[in-house]
Amino acid sequence: MADVYFSFFSLILLIPLLLLLILYFIVRPKPVRVPIKNRHVFITGGSSGIGLALAQLCVQQGADVTILARNVSRLEEAKQSIKLATGRDVSIFSADVRDYDAVKRVVEEAGPIDVLVCNHGVYVPQELEDQDLEEVKFMIDVNLMGTFHLIKAALPGMKKIRAERGPGSIAIMSSQGGQVGIYGYTAYSASKFGLKGLAESLQHEIISDNIHVSLVFPPDTETPGFAEEVKRRPQLSSIIAASSGAMKADEVAKKSLNGIQSGSFMVPCNFEGFLLGVATAGLSPQRSFLMAFVEVMTAGLMRFAGLFFQWNWYGCIEKHAKKK
Ligand SMILES: *[C@@H]1O[C@H](CO)[C@@H](O)[C@H](O)[C@H]1NC(C)=O
Repeated sequence: MADVYFSFFSLILLIPLLLLLILYFIVRPKPVRVPIKNRHVFITGGSSGIGLALAQLCVQQGADVTILARNVSRLEEAKQSIKLATGRDVSIFSADVRDYDAVKRVVEEAGPIDVLVCNHGVYVPQELEDQDLEEVKFMIDVNLMGTFHLIKAALPGMKKIRAERGPGSIAIMSSQGGQVGIYGYTAYSASKFGLKGLAESLQHEIISDNIHVSLVFPPDTETPGFAEEVKRRPQLSSIIAASSGAMKADEVAKKSLNGIQSGSFMVPCNFEGFLLGVATAGLSPQRSFLMAFVEVMTAGLMRFAGLFFQWNWYGCIEKHAKKK
């Protein structure tokens, strides 16, 4: 009898160990470290919020930083504040990411890039039926096409210097709205889900060039943009997207940089984002065998939790509809 128990328990232990071992050998792409010190980091939307915090963090870690944004006076302010905090200069460029020729000119002038951070993004909250198509197009053009423009402009230069400077990175700021669709987010979520397709395909294409793609999923973050957004958000969006409060831009920047440096494909910024990442892992690449292990072991439970969330959200929508 004791023998039966023993083999039962050793089997229970053996299966996870075997799984860990298998995952250790099969996770792809292989783990990598992307250096930041003395590397050229190029950040869009870098004059405020997460972009500015990330720019300052990269400067502090010894990177040469270029920031791109639209507003010249805000760029100047950003340069001043980084100089004040670190004693070092950053390069600033003004361009609209929707204008490919302008983006191309800036990228050429800024010089070859090691780490490209596509952090720009816009969100105009509204139900699709009431939203102007111009606003839909604005979100798709900035969030999705703007990112295409940057990558397309930067890639040739990035590839050329890899042999000399080691691993490079393209980091794309998605959003929790890029992991799950929510009331009032149709165009925004479409643009951010689009970034996931772009990131997954792009990683296949540039892994042999030693360039590593990261997709960052920040939650609500205390930025000037976010304050505006909350004011305009439909009531149901606020109910469904209700989170435990917004994260600080500095915290998001720290998580993002850690994710970039470890070449993580999906980069969550808090525990909620971690759970969302595990729940939406699907067919995404995974470099960490430990994370892969968590994904495999909790897949069923995560699906159950997801269904529970949908039950709650549809309940809110129903209640809201009845009130109307
Ligand atoms: C640019 O930024 C400044 C300072 O934050 C602001 O006052 C101004 O309205 C902005 N300009 C545009 C065109 O958004």
